[in-house]
Amino acid sequence: MRAAAGAMQSYYAARATYYDAVYERVERAADIAFLREHLPARLAARDVLEVACGTGYWSQHLVRRVRRLVLTDAVAEPLALAATRPGIDAANCHIADAYAPPESLGKFNGLFAGLWFSHVARARRAAFFTGIHARLTPGARVLLIDNNEAQRRDFPNEEVDAQGDTYQLRTLRDGSIHRVLKNFPSRDELQAHVQAAGGRVTDYRNLDNFWLLEYELG
Ligand SMILES: C[S@@+](CC[C@H](N)C(=O)[O-])C[C@H]1O[C@@H](n2cnc3c(N)ncnc32)[C@H](O)[C@@H]1O
Repeated sequence: MRAAAGAMQSYYAARATYYDAVYERVERAADIAFLREHLPARLAARDVLEVACGTGYWSQHLVRRVRRLVLTDAVAEPLALAATRPGIDAANCHIADAYAPPESLGKFNGLFAGLWFSHVARARRAAFFTGIHARLTPGARVLLIDNNEAQRRDFPNEEVDAQGDTYQLRTLRDGSIHRVLKNFPSRDELQAHVQAAGGRVTDYRNLDNFWLLEYELG
């Protein structure tokens, strides 16, 4: 499992300079236009921790509405690009593991993770929620978005392992091929994980290309 996590980080390091092409696909335009407004509105005026922020595509929109935005990612290459986005203060960008955001970051009443939960192995989901909740105050609002099943059309060669985790083979522009963990949790699975972790789901949407989950901590 750890080897797969390391391989995924190398993959995102190599892909960082052209990662944002995923947001230029025409079939995703309507969803993205909606999310660019909806996500900042739902986290407005909050102190927000973003985990696995990547190149900061969503951060640049969140930062316009939130009170404080702290960006984290485990990989230096995408995080360095996020730090150059308009409105982002490089001093608020930190290398950090999404499973254990450090105490030194402080406490937050909002959290966002985009296109990250799909990369969490089923066996690590509970640990992910425990790790982020340690950085949140009671009543904090969490928003997660990710690719829905529509994304699978692009990767017909996926495989499923004994734990039920799905892997896709992805080819980068340099021709290198990477085996990337990519899961597609159902609404019921998400709801059960959130409840088990002490959260209350307040919204779930399945858009054309993405799912969105919003919940609040008790
Ligand atoms: C699909 S990208 C999502 C980037 C961004 N959130 C977005 O929505 O465009 C996944 C990100 O997870 C990061 N990542 C991989 N393993 C991580 C970990 N253990 N902790 C934090 N970030 C991680 C990768 O570096 C990459 O930037």
